[in-house]
Amino acid sequence: MHTYNAHVGSSPAVDLLVNQLAPDARVTVLTGAGVSAASGVPTFRGADGLWKQHRAEDLATPEAFARDPRLVWEWYDWRRQRIAACRPNGAHEVLAAWSECYPGFTLITQNVDGLHERAGTRRVLRMHGSIWEVACWARCAGSPLRWHDDTVPLPVIPPRCSYCDGMIRPGVVWFGEAIAPAILMRCHEATRCDVFLTVGTSAVVYPAASLVQEALMHGAYTAEINLEATPASSLVDQVLHGPAEIILAEINERLGLRHGNPAARGSR
Ligand code: OAD
Repeated sequence: MHTYNAHVGSSPAVDLLVNQLAPDARVTVLTGAGVSAASGVPTFRGADGLWKQHRAEDLATPEAFARDPRLVWEWYDWRRQRIAACRPNGAHEVLAAWSECYPGFTLITQNVDGLHERAGTRRVLRMHGSIWEVACWARCAGSPLRWHDDTVPLPVIPPRCSYCDGMIRPGVVWFGEAIAPAILMRCHEATRCDVFLTVGTSAVVYPAASLVQEALMHGAYTAEINLEATPASSLVDQVLHGPAEIILAEINERLGLRHGNPAARGSR
């Protein structure tokens, strides 16, 4: 395993990854809250993480919503307002550029903030849903499975279903809930790739955390980009320690120098 530290700046290690990122490589990237940190979106774990101030069981489970929908919606309304004020950062932009240039590119994200899509990324698989979607809590017959709603702040909490006037819920996947089978299937398919990058995730929430192992099993070259070591660090071929927005920009720049890869036209 090779380790790169952005603060030390040993760029040959970056070159090892760049060599794997050939223009025709099938590239899959798994992202977590760390890619949005530079945009000002709070992460979940770590010193200032959301789960330091709140218990996931009180805010991110169906049981919590059934118990206190107002509390849960107040928290989601606060997060929606906060995210609405954020912009995609350099990490989102590099990945968006790669999604246009690598023919077999897939972006799997655990993030619900929509910043990958706002950066223009194609082929995004949202494992944990979207904070900008809602669904009828009672799954009433008249309503779609989920629908887009980006009203901030919400005028009424909890918001009402326009089809049955019951409560609506955030269109995210809570702890204890299943990921949409069609999405999960596509995530598994995407682990059949040449290069699998895990970026800005603590790699502790399953099934997302198991995808890197799957990619390894399929023979992919694997790398992790994170500020710190995670359970994935001991598995991957290469660990790159540092901020995703800086390391991805460096990789992108080197892609241009090494391969003349059009992805390296970079930030859009
Ligand atoms: P976490 O908050 O668990 O982890 C964020 C990771 O990003 C940590 O490992 C940080 O070290 C790293 N990080 C922070 N800033 C970074 C930066 N600028 N560059 C690179 N890395 C950085 O977030 P997730 O792994 O996404 O699920 O969490 C997974 C799931 O747990 C979330 O989707 C959410 C949460 O509970 C649900 O709510 C169902």
